[in-house]
Formats: sequence, structure tokens, C-alpha cells
Amino acid sequence: VWSEMPMGPPDPILGLTEAFNKDTDPRKVSLGVGAYRGDDGKPLVLDTVRKAEKIMLEKALNHEYAGIVGLPDFTKLSLAFAYGKNADVLKERRVAGVQTLSGTGACRVMGELMARFRGQGTPIYVPNPTWGNHIPIFKNSGLEVRKYRYYDPKTVGLDFQGLLSDVQAAEDDSLFLLHACAHNPTGVDPTREQWAELSKLMKAKKHTVFFDCAYQGFASGDSEKDAWAIRRFVDDGHCIALAQSFAKNFGLYGERIGALSVVCNDADEAARVTSQLKLVIRPMYSNPPIYGARLVTEVLSDPALTQEWSAECKAMADRIISMRTELRSCLERLGSKRSWEHITSQIGMFCYTGLTTEEVLKIRGDAHIYFTNDGRISMAGVTTSNVEYIAKSIFTVTG
Ligand code: LMR
Repeated sequence: VWSEMPMGPPDPILGLTEAFNKDTDPRKVSLGVGAYRGDDGKPLVLDTVRKAEKIMLEKALNHEYAGIVGLPDFTKLSLAFAYGKNADVLKERRVAGVQTLSGTGACRVMGELMARFRGQGTPIYVPNPTWGNHIPIFKNSGLEVRKYRYYDPKTVGLDFQGLLSDVQAAEDDSLFLLHACAHNPTGVDPTREQWAELSKLMKAKKHTVFFDCAYQGFASGDSEKDAWAIRRFVDDGHCIALAQSFAKNFGLYGERIGALSVVCNDADEAARVTSQLKLVIRPMYSNPPIYGARLVTEVLSDPALTQEWSAECKAMADRIISMRTELRSCLERLGSKRSWEHITSQIGMFCYTGLTTEEVLKIRGDAHIYFTNDGRISMAGVTTSNVEYIAKSIFTVTG
């Protein structure tokens, strides 16, 4: 039955982890997947997460199914985290929210909802470039993926005029995906003034904005600040949709914990949207896992734990920022002829180095350093022990 089945290509991001795990060279470094490492190069479990686990254990909870939409306490806290504790839209109960299998699951459920209600082949506009998985997520949901201008390689920054032109040129009432903060893979975000201008134009064009927020707390080290764009669009009257992930900011990668929410005009509309989300979710995976949701709930429902979590999240963000400075200065000390200013100006987990695929492959082959073919480095894997080796290996190839 399977003899004619062709071999599928490895995943551009997770395939690198598989290749890295097979590599026996002692110098190997993994800078592919965006997963935080401490300065010892090891995965970090936050103290607040450990505390939440202890609390949960003491509660001796059962393992019943969650409802189709997940744990209501989790979703409530998750929405307050993104929209703000005192957000009017929450008080007015006009946000439809469901627990999802992290950000990926939220994007997929949203894609399915849009394909169902706007029709197969409905376009979704995503930034060029965007997180590699966005494209198959939305294609497999039945949407047509179109790209809008975002990153300008010449300035190694935002192509804001290109972005505005593409938003303007799209048919009215289109669907646009925006990264809420710490754009993946470029680390380039609009300024607050640019967000405000974009919001105005999106409104004038009646576009539906879908924010993917995978790094709240990781961009600036302050989760309130990182939610600025989301809150601004809501204040401007957009009925946004929002994908949230707690993989990075809580270090809960494997727990697959996130949320999808849709801001509606009133509570009745929100109830109807929720009912349709349930119809998407039930045949897809029935209901979500509960462990990660309980962990996040323990932390976010306790003000002292939340404050402690916030300091831990900031410490992760700060370590990444210090590694950016270190990597840049190592390259400059080596006498590199290229400008590496963007390493420190970009934010979030990733550095979009500007290295070509050829250079990336050479570094992988010669130095056993694994990062994605588009030149994206996960700064979360850079440590004081490997930063010089990484810089030297980049320098050897780029001069
Ligand atoms: C990444 O971009 O590396 C992360 O979002 C992890 C993933 O699933 O690709």
C-alpha cells in the first residue's frame, strides 16, 4: 500500500533539531528552533512553573476531559493577559475565547473558521517573510496565502511604505495576519506611530486583523508593553482575532498551551462565534490537554506568582539581549567588514542575520552550527561559552 509513497522533505525548523540530534561532532550548536536555553545551554524550567506544579500536585486533581473550549479559568486569564485586566471588550463579554494547542493550534482553528465562513480559497495576507509554518497552516486550512511587503533587506528594517501600499491595494474586507510583537523571523516590529497608522488604514479598508502573539514578554521583557499593538487595535474599534502561545514566555513548549480569541460586536455574537469554534475543534482534536492550562492558571491567578513570573520572563529576555551585544561585538572585534548593527536593533528570540542560504549551509557543514536556511539564528541558544565560536564561524564564511 505504501510502496509508492514518496519521502517528504524535512521541516525547515524542526527538521534541523532532528539533524542536530544525529550530529556526533562535539562542537555542534543548535540555533534552529526558537526554544530558550539558559547560559548553561540547557532548557530552563521557570521557578514559577515549578511552584505551580507543586500546588497542582497538592490539589490532587483528577484527569477528566476539559470541555471542547478548554479550561474556562485559563481562557479568562489568558485574555486578560493579552487585552488587559480592565479591557472594556472583556467587561462587555464580547470576546469569544478558546484554549488551543499553542499558537499553531490557534492559527489552524482560525484558518478553518475563516475557510468555513468566507469560503475555501479566501485569501489571507501574511508578512513577507513570516514564520515558515504559517504558510502550510493556512493553506491546509483551505485559505489562499498571499504575502504583503514587510522586511526590506536593503535597510535590514521595516518596509513600512511597501506594507501600507499592500494593505491599501488589497480588496476591502480582507484578512491580514500581523505578528503582535517580536516578528518571527526578522525581529523587526513597527514603531508605535507606525502601528497607529497601520490600524487607521486597516480600519478604513475594513480589513480583519488576526494577530499572532507568540512572544508576549519576550520582546521588551514587559508583557504589558508587548501587548501594546493588540490593545491599540482594539481601542481603535477593530474586531481583531488573536492567537496566543505560552510556549516561550512560560517555557511550556511541549505542553502545547495557547488560546484563540475573536473580538465581537456584542455578547450574542461572541456566543455564536464560540459555538462555531466548537464545531471546528470537536472533530479535529475533541478537546485540548489540561496540564499546561492548569500551570498557566496557577501563575496568572496569583498576583505574587505573576509578579515573580514577570521577573523570570524579563531575565530570559535580558539574557538574549546581552547575547545580541556579545555576538555583535565579537564579530566587530574579529574585524568583520559587514555591518552587524541589526543584531542589536532587532528584538525577540531571533536574529535575522542576512546570511545567504549558501553561507548558512557552509557554516552548518564546516562548524556544525544549525540554524534555518533563511539566515535566522535563535538567539535563545547563544551562550557565553559558544558565542565566540559562533562569531568566528560566521566570520570565517563572511569575512
Ligand atoms: C520557531 O519559529 O522556531 C518556533 O516558533 C518553533 C516552531 O514551532 O517552529
